[in-house]
Amino acid sequence: MARYAQIVGWGMYVPSEILTNDDLATMVDTSDDWIQARTGIVERRIAPPKETTATMAISAARAALRVANANPARLDLIIVATATPDYPFPATACLVQEALGATKAGAFDLSAGCTGFVYGLAVGRQMIISGAYDQVLVIGAETLSRIVNWTDRNTCVLFGDGAGAVLLQASDVPGGVLSAVLGADGSGGDLLMLPAGGSRQPASAETVAQGLHYIHMNGPEIFRFATRVTARASRQALAEADVNLEDISLLISHQANGRIIQSAAKSLKLPPEKVFVNLDRYGNTSAASVPIALCEAIEQDRVKRDDHLVMVSFGAGLTWAAVVVRWGVPLPVPRPSRWQVAGRLARYRWAAVRSYLRRLGWKIVSAVMRLFARNKSSD
Ligand code: ACO
Repeated sequence: MARYAQIVGWGMYVPSEILTNDDLATMVDTSDDWIQARTGIVERRIAPPKETTATMAISAARAALRVANANPARLDLIIVATATPDYPFPATACLVQEALGATKAGAFDLSAGCTGFVYGLAVGRQMIISGAYDQVLVIGAETLSRIVNWTDRNTCVLFGDGAGAVLLQASDVPGGVLSAVLGADGSGGDLLMLPAGGSRQPASAETVAQGLHYIHMNGPEIFRFATRVTARASRQALAEADVNLEDISLLISHQANGRIIQSAAKSLKLPPEKVFVNLDRYGNTSAASVPIALCEAIEQDRVKRDDHLVMVSFGAGLTWAAVVVRWGVPLPVPRPSRWQVAGRLARYRWAAVRSYLRRLGWKIVSAVMRLFARNKSSD
């Protein structure tokens, strides 16, 4: 029997702290007028020190599981798309897996810049339709404020922090993620990069002094690349899904620059009501932008059952990707009962206790082994 990957849960999280264009104008030589005219951004969210990519990913994931009324212990796989993981390793996805108590799930991070979430949807879909897995949680989460040079007006006005997640579920009902197109062109890698901190240029006092631990970007070239690939990838994904352009209900593009979204909409001949935009309030949240936009589109009643959505993104790599989704879940979803909410809270508390006990277990085993080795060498 054919298998389909339906989106059955969705959730988002953004920090409460807002940084406006006017705030930025007190930090660098810029203005609200310039930022709005050139990008469409009005404000963005900034994570306070206690929040990280993992904590925001966990909040978005819990929201997605709540919508789907899903048990985290049944998840098969967790993918976190991010360019700003908590650590180079362990993967942020493993931190999420632990906090959710997703004891059966595999977990890995996916690096494809801003395109990561749409890449993640493509991977999750394949895992499901191949029959390997039934439930895959795909998260896009970023704390870009930690790698932005707040003295560089070319980049610091663009980015914000946040996270979004969707739960993909195996189904025999036709629909869900119908097609996926992935692309990459490494020749443009140095147009958008974080030069230091990897094996090529390990972090040192010198790399920090040179600001090589910050985002470096050739804005105009990325702009040209983005306008080229957004409409093209969308068309390819539509063709693969056998869906006509006129049947698109909503374009949910990566929220990097309003002019890039408008250019794609014009090329695809989509009227404004078929194009979702929320970058005015969040800026470019990289891999989190598409799932955050999806959540807000649902909240604003702009997604209905059997609608065809195109989700498309571009970013560092260079990379690009598009998927076509036929929405399969009736909206709005019923509110969870008080028992369901209490059960979920208890589950997360237990996950925290379990995690504490397991960490303690590692420490005890390691102390006993050390003692054992010491006694053996003194014999
Ligand atoms: N405020 C005021 N002036 C500015 C600012 C600013 N914040 N930033 C740049 N300028 C100036 C420049 O110095 C330049 O001045 P000059 O002509 O005297 O040299 C002038 O404005 C024009 O600069 P451009 O870079 O040509 O401006 P442009 O219209 O291309 O807009 C922008 C710049 C907004 C960065 C645009 O190129 C863009 O959005 N590019 C795509 C960026 C993007 O999407 N990046 C994310 C990719 S996804 C990922 O993986 C993270």
